[in-house]
Amino acid sequence: MASIAIDGPAGAGKSTIAKAVAKKLDYIYVDTGAMYRAIAHYLVTNHIDIEDEKALAEACNQVTVEIQYEKGQQQVYLNGENVTPYLRTEETGNMASKSSAKAPVRAALLDLQRNMAKQYNVVMDGRDIGTNVLPEAEVKIYLTASSKERANRRYKELIEKGEQPDFDKIEADIIERDKRDMNRAIAPLKQAEDAVLIDSSDMSIDEVVDKILSVAQTVL
Ligand code: DC
Repeated sequence: MASIAIDGPAGAGKSTIAKAVAKKLDYIYVDTGAMYRAIAHYLVTNHIDIEDEKALAEACNQVTVEIQYEKGQQQVYLNGENVTPYLRTEETGNMASKSSAKAPVRAALLDLQRNMAKQYNVVMDGRDIGTNVLPEAEVKIYLTASSKERANRRYKELIEKGEQPDFDKIEADIIERDKRDMNRAIAPLKQAEDAVLIDSSDMSIDEVVDKILSVAQTVL
């Protein structure tokens, strides 16, 4: 089985790009952020204080996260319930950024991620795939973009949904989330030594996809 690891900060376009690369290669796309979001959803809805180590450990023992593919789309099941529709909210994203720094949360998901890469050819995106989850991945990409550009993309997304977002707040949230993801003690976001750096600030989606496919072609 072959693996393509795509890591990078929030809003760099990882999921759009990873999905497109997976489709081209007929690989499975694995969105690990959605798994962290599923646990975050559990923690929010059950009012778990993540600073309470005992409560957090108990909660992590009680959750099972499973991935299924329906019509080619990843669906995340939390304790048997499909929670995919609840995962993309700001509240869940913010909790995921905080709770994913905690050891029991990361431990709960590591085997699931590694097992998927054992079973299938995967394009897996996240923060620590190339550095920690799949250090032997054949292709490693570190995909980033400036915080302004990432905020801009998010802003446009929300406008399209009919919301009235505040640009400065979006950018401040992105910077805050980067800080948390990069500075945590366990599996922080960083570029693996053997990862190819792609800054997508001034690139189209197609350009980024082509670049990754050309990197993949040299090794797969
Ligand atoms: O990619 P995303 O925004 O859906 O991820 C949500 C949070 O999950 C993100 O703030 C950091 C965390 N995460 C992580 O720690 N490790 C991963 N492999 C993927 C996501």
